Amino acid sequence: MSRAPVMTLDGPGGAGKGTLASALARELGWWLLDSGALYRLVGLLALRRGLDAGRSQDLDAAVTASRNLDLIFEPDTGAGQRVWLDGEDVTDAIRTDAVSGAASQWAVQPSIRQALLARQRDFAVPPGLIADGRDMGTVIFPEADLKLYVTATARERADRRFAQLSGMRVDANLDRIYREILERDARDASREVAPLKPADDAHVIDTTGESVAASLARVRRLVREKGWI
Ligand code: C5P
Repeated sequence: MSRAPVMTLDGPGGAGKGTLASALARELGWWLLDSGALYRLVGLLALRRGLDAGRSQDLDAAVTASRNLDLIFEPDTGAGQRVWLDGEDVTDAIRTDAVSGAASQWAVQPSIRQALLARQRDFAVPPGLIADGRDMGTVIFPEADLKLYVTATARERADRRFAQLSGMRVDANLDRIYREILERDARDASREVAPLKPADDAHVIDTTGESVAASLARVRRLVREKGWI
C-alpha cells in the first residue's frame, strides 16, 4: 500500500493552526492529529495524580502513563474534536490554563516525547493526515508532503485567547495571558528536544491581523497545488 499523504501544521499556541487544521481535515476528509491534545492529556493525568517532573519516580510513572494512554479522538463533526480519556470526556478539562502549563512542562522531557512518538506516526493512514503541533514537520513526519508553519505575534495571540475566555464568561487578565504566552513560547522554543521552529521546507503563514477565512484561502491554494482538492 502506498504511503498516506501527510500535511503538517506547526507553530506556537493561539496562531490559528488548530482552526486551520480541523477545517482542512473536514474539507479533505482526512484524519486529524491534534498532537497538543496528547501532551495536554499527559499534563492532566500528571496534575490529577500530583506528579512532579522533577522527581525521577514521578517521571517514570508519567512515561508509563503516556505509553498507555487510553484515549479516543472522536471524529470532528463540525463542533470540534472531542477527546476521551479512560472513558471520560475531557475535551474541556484539557483546555484550562493549568493544563496548558503542565503540558508544556512535561513536553520538555525527552522520555515523554519518545513515549508518544509511535502513537503519533500511527495516525498517518489513508486517505491522508493533517498533523497539528510543534514538531510535526521537523521530527514526527520529516517526509511530509506539505509543511506549514503558522504563526502570529504574541500580542495578537494573547488578544485572541482573551476574547475566547471572555466569550466563555471566564474571568481573564490580558497581561497575565500575554506573559504566559511569552513564557510558553520561550519554553517550547528553547527546549533541547524537538524545539519549536519551522522546518527548512515549511511555508510560513503569518495570521496576524488576518481573518480565518483569509488564512484558509491562502492555505487552500497550497493544497490545490498538490492536487488534493
Ligand atoms: O497545541 P497545544 O497548545 O494544545 O499544545 C500544548 C503544549 O504541548 C504546548 O505548549 C507544547 O509544549 C506541547 N506540544 C509539544 N509538541 C507538540 C504539540 C504540543 O511539545 N507536537
